[in-house]
Amino acid sequence: MKIIKAKTAGFCFGVDRAVKLTYGLLEQGVRVATLGPLIHNPQCVADLAARGAVIVDTPEQVPDGYEVVVRSHGVPQCVYDALGARGLVVHDATCPFVAKIHRLARRAGEEGKTLLVAGDKNHPEVQGIVGHTRGSVFVFADLEELKVLLTPENTKNGIFVVAQTTFEVKKWQECVEFLKKVYTNPSIFDTICNATWARQHEAECLARQCDLMVVIGGRQSSNTQKLVSVAGRHTKAAAVETAQELDPAWWRGAGTVGVTAGASTPSSIIEEVLSSMSEEIREEELSFEEMIDASL
Ligand code: F3S
Repeated sequence: MKIIKAKTAGFCFGVDRAVKLTYGLLEQGVRVATLGPLIHNPQCVADLAARGAVIVDTPEQVPDGYEVVVRSHGVPQCVYDALGARGLVVHDATCPFVAKIHRLARRAGEEGKTLLVAGDKNHPEVQGIVGHTRGSVFVFADLEELKVLLTPENTKNGIFVVAQTTFEVKKWQECVEFLKKVYTNPSIFDTICNATWARQHEAECLARQCDLMVVIGGRQSSNTQKLVSVAGRHTKAAAVETAQELDPAWWRGAGTVGVTAGASTPSSIIEEVLSSMSEEIREEELSFEEMIDASL
């Protein structure tokens, strides 16, 4: 059996930056509070807690003497205001790609346009984006939901369309195609980040040549779940948070197994999964390689 590991598996630039920043502060002896779990990975969050980091839901809950880390998902403007009102020291790890969407959201409000956000309305990144516009704003999960929102009332002053950075590329393309047919000059900003695009693209390429895809990542991680769904369109896809959840029955009889991981999955967990899979397979039957070319 051959195992092929995706090149893009694991931490993206924004998550890596937030994690390094937080570990760095803890090493300097700073008492750190994160607004929500730093990343959608329970193992990494537990490690940070063991080193003294606390998780709070609101600026009001930050204990005295603690400094605050804003995670890569970003937060609404009202949260920055509340942090400022308390005079807290803030380390802002909002991913620059998310910060760019915040600027677009503010611009939509300033221009009096309706902001339409492709994404999951319950995801913190989307709640952050929504909280940076003063105008009217709607969130849609797919083309069907978008169509319902495009009423004359909602669109009379023009629309600004953005996507959650981890939105599914194929769904976004469907929505953009539709909008371009219906409106002559829609303001559409492709804000899906490169890390998401590359991971989904590679997951699709890999899934096409594998009998099984193992996707490693937090169950709450939006980008990990998207990889499961992209891979699952082409082959059997199994999701695990850790090596303990692997089931050897999944790859019984399989010739090639692909392994990828979400943007918030630490490399240590990916390595554990790979070595645990290798142990389950007789050495003489195993070959291992990294994805070389992800062109479709
Ligand atoms: Fe940033 Fe994209 Fe990662 S928005 S946090 S680089 S998934």
